[in-house]
Amino acid sequence: MTRPRIAVLSGSGLSAESGLPTFRDAAGLWKQYSWMELASPEGWRKHPQLVLDFYNERRAKAWSAQPNAAHLAIAELERHGDVVVITQNVDNLHERAGSTRVLHLHGELAFARGTGPSRHRVRIDGASIEMGQKCAEGTQLRPDIVWFGEETQHMDEAREQVTAADRVLVVGTSLSVYPAAGLVEFARPGAEKVLNVLEMGEVPAGFEFLAGPATRVIPQVVARWSAAHR
Ligand code: APR
Repeated sequence: MTRPRIAVLSGSGLSAESGLPTFRDAAGLWKQYSWMELASPEGWRKHPQLVLDFYNERRAKAWSAQPNAAHLAIAELERHGDVVVITQNVDNLHERAGSTRVLHLHGELAFARGTGPSRHRVRIDGASIEMGQKCAEGTQLRPDIVWFGEETQHMDEAREQVTAADRVLVVGTSLSVYPAAGLVEFARPGAEKVLNVLEMGEVPAGFEFLAGPATRVIPQVVARWSAAHR
């Protein structure tokens, strides 16, 4: 039996049980803070120190967090199929769980970049970014995160992967931010499609909706798909 192609589309709900906040749930980041102030080019121009503090704190939290059973189950899927993880998350819990093909649509906390035309990218892992820290081109470093109004990364490859997938697993995202949310529309009619969040208004067409915590639901889906491959 040929190895199935599997596309996993993940969001912040996947990392919630690792202790990292989501964005729009009751205790979500955008319930506590203003995304216009902290996650937009305008906010960066107005008060860069505030933005650096926000992401330095998020980076420190992400670095002290651990991959949970859902991250580990998704990594395990690579034994039973050709898996690509397409994540909106900026933490590195997928990679730390063992996933080897991860596309970060909204950037990564592990990197900083210059603010000049070359957008010079620097790996910083869990370190903080300070005002006055410059890239090789001499411009102030900023978090390598896609802010509102900026271009989402890897979208062409992500569309290709979802279109080609035999199985599509969507986990921990409210599907409210585009163009990432629009990826579900590229899942083929014949593909097996599963969506796992705590609650969802309109479930995208053709998706089996499994409500509940990812650490309970995702290992079950992976067990089901692994059994199907034996
Ligand atoms: N298990 C499964 N799903 C969960 C869990 C859990 N333990 N906890 C929360 N969820 C689900 C919620 O039901 C919700 O549908 O995760 C989703 C979180 O949705 P959002 O807070 O909107 O986060 P996300 O979809 O990742 O946001 C997308 O918005 O702010 C931008 O760039 C940011 O990448 C982010 C994008």
